[in-house]
Amino acid sequence: MRKPLISANWKMNKTIGETEEFIRAFLPLVKDVTDVDIIIAPPFTSLSAASGLLTGTGVKLAAQNVFYEEKGAFTGEISPAMLLASGCSCVIIGHSERRQYFHETDEVVNKKIGTARKNGLEVILCIGESLKEREENRTFGVLDGQLSGSLKDLTLDGITIAYEPIWAIGTGRTATKEQANEAHSFIRGWLRKNKESADSIRILYGGSVTPENVASLMSEPDVDGGLVGGASLKPDSFAKIVTGAR
Ligand code: 13P
Repeated sequence: MRKPLISANWKMNKTIGETEEFIRAFLPLVKDVTDVDIIIAPPFTSLSAASGLLTGTGVKLAAQNVFYEEKGAFTGEISPAMLLASGCSCVIIGHSERRQYFHETDEVVNKKIGTARKNGLEVILCIGESLKEREENRTFGVLDGQLSGSLKDLTLDGITIAYEPIWAIGTGRTATKEQANEAHSFIRGWLRKNKESADSIRILYGGSVTPENVASLMSEPDVDGGLVGGASLKPDSFAKIVTGAR
């Protein structure tokens, strides 16, 4: 049985003060939740402050990106060691916004996962197709390419997959539970065929998850949790998603 996991991805939202305000309001709302794993991924600048408030609570801290080198002349980049020292135990890698706006390829994603894992960070690997690719019936081919490229020469140890169809991100157009499960079972099938221990890997759905649709999505056998953008920015709404995932 895979324990549900709900992760917030705040993207480029919240200052340090806003992060602290959120966490102070959010923690009491989930204090009795032990049957869902919870992760919050604030921007880099808020990580240390968030870590101070989350330590000892069971809510884990993730970063939204990491670089694949350990240190050196890479202006503007952040290393795994810096994330660990800021209190992170996890990192989101390969989000479609990074692929789209910052030209991250599967090869770069693969290198980032390798360095993150080597340093002991857990990884949430994001994959997903565009609307055009779905309409051209290329969804499975795209997922296959992203999985082979991103996970090349890596084990599944410490890895969670997030299926995020690009057309569902920030659009209010959630994938139906059947569409989500179809993609998730394709992903699980791929993992079974190509890697060890695929059955214990959690596959999250991301794309317009809300308090209203989370239970329905979670009712599908291969949907193990959610990666939540917009609806994770308010403590009430994110807490309802966490409790709705049980
Ligand atoms: P929304 O929940 O805002 O659609 O964003 C999803 C997402 O990209 C999470 O990583």
